[in-house]
Amino acid sequence: MNVLIVGSGGREHAIAWKVAKSPKVTKVYCAPGNAGISEFAECVPIGAMEFEKLTAFAKEKEIDLTVIGMDDPLVGGIVDVFEAKGLRVFGPRKNAAILEGSKAFSKDLMKKYEIPTAAYETFNKAEDALAYLETADMPVVLKADGLALGKGVLICQSLEEARAGVKELMEDKKFGSAGDRIVVEEFMTGREVSVLSFVDGKTIKIMTSAQDHKRAGDGDTGLNTGGMGTFSPSPFYTEEIDTFCRERIYQATVDAMAQEGREFKGIIFFGLMLTEKGPRVLEYNARFGDPETQVVLPRMKNDIVEVFEACIDGRLDQIDLGFEDNAAVCVVLASEGYPLHYKKGLAIHGLECFKEKDGYYAFHAGTRFAEDGTTFQTNGGRVLGITALGEDLKAARANAYAATEWVSFENKYMRHDIGKAIDEC
Ligand code: AMP
Ligand code: GLY
Repeated sequence: MNVLIVGSGGREHAIAWKVAKSPKVTKVYCAPGNAGISEFAECVPIGAMEFEKLTAFAKEKEIDLTVIGMDDPLVGGIVDVFEAKGLRVFGPRKNAAILEGSKAFSKDLMKKYEIPTAAYETFNKAEDALAYLETADMPVVLKADGLALGKGVLICQSLEEARAGVKELMEDKKFGSAGDRIVVEEFMTGREVSVLSFVDGKTIKIMTSAQDHKRAGDGDTGLNTGGMGTFSPSPFYTEEIDTFCRERIYQATVDAMAQEGREFKGIIFFGLMLTEKGPRVLEYNARFGDPETQVVLPRMKNDIVEVFEACIDGRLDQIDLGFEDNAAVCVVLASEGYPLHYKKGLAIHGLECFKEKDGYYAFHAGTRFAEDGTTFQTNGGRVLGITALGEDLKAARANAYAATEWVSFENKYMRHDIGKAIDEC
């Protein structure tokens, strides 16, 4: 089979690595990909939003399966465009990707189908939001309705901050049209867990759990980022919590989407908060998590291409999804200054250390080749996701941090407490 992967980050690197392991696969392409991905896939310079070019490429290269990694093209309807051209593609159609594309939609869905989530109100006008805030409990959470690179969520401690937040989202349009409508949500406390799942429209199969670290600094301080590291499984995701989520959240979401005439095929990523009152859905994503994928896929036993095909064909019930009884930790190596200002084009050394080392992976997020075409340079804020397996979380963490020492580049920055929470268990 020829497989095309759409995207360019560490998540797509992990997907490409896993797809390339499938005995069914002869050739992998990635659009646009990055320098690390080119070890497993031929990278082609087509952007993820260039649907016409992508479908033309898929026809020309006789691609048997296209896998969409990123949210933007999914929400923009890339799957519909591929299907209209008779191309096989893994991911939700536009009418289902709205589960991630509109927070107002997903909140209304949860309310209608009694899926546990924070209480909320939706506003289309700043003046209505401001009037509501006058009597709301603080802290309060403001969310831009649309996609905002994961940054459209403001946690406001006071009425003053909340007023400023409404201005930022709805009047100053900091996130463009994503802020035309906002959700104002009850503030919840608890531990966060990411649960990814495969869905074929009716059946849902849950992957192993993971936890992300979104803040830039140790001890969860500093600015929000795309993710500074992950571990899997989450020891806080107990059997009791799993049972509750299976009864109240996972299948209920898939059934609700089907009921609404928005059959969901692809990945549902449940962002959960484990509150004192039980698990609550923080958000849905319609794609793999980044950097959750980097710790989940190395633990997955199945041939991922078989699972993708079962989702497309509606026979996921026949797949026995399995994960190794081990653990994985991913530490992101960033360029100092991320997520604000950082240098690019810095030479990266030491990546050869990962060659043929079982259980150690350097998933590339923002890298490119230097002019010599063989050595690597930084090309983004998040540069690499250094990932290691271990027999348990402590071993995986020790291995991952040891492997971060193999790599060097100027301005290398990382958090030193990825997975520290496991010490509380
Ligand atoms: P979201 O994009 O909706 O997942 O929100 C991004 C982050 O904001 C989450 O990972 C949480 O850390 C935080 N967050 C979102 N909603 C709430 C809430 N209702 N209460 C507390 N924190 C929240
Ligand atoms: N790691 C969070 C996300 O992928 O949205």
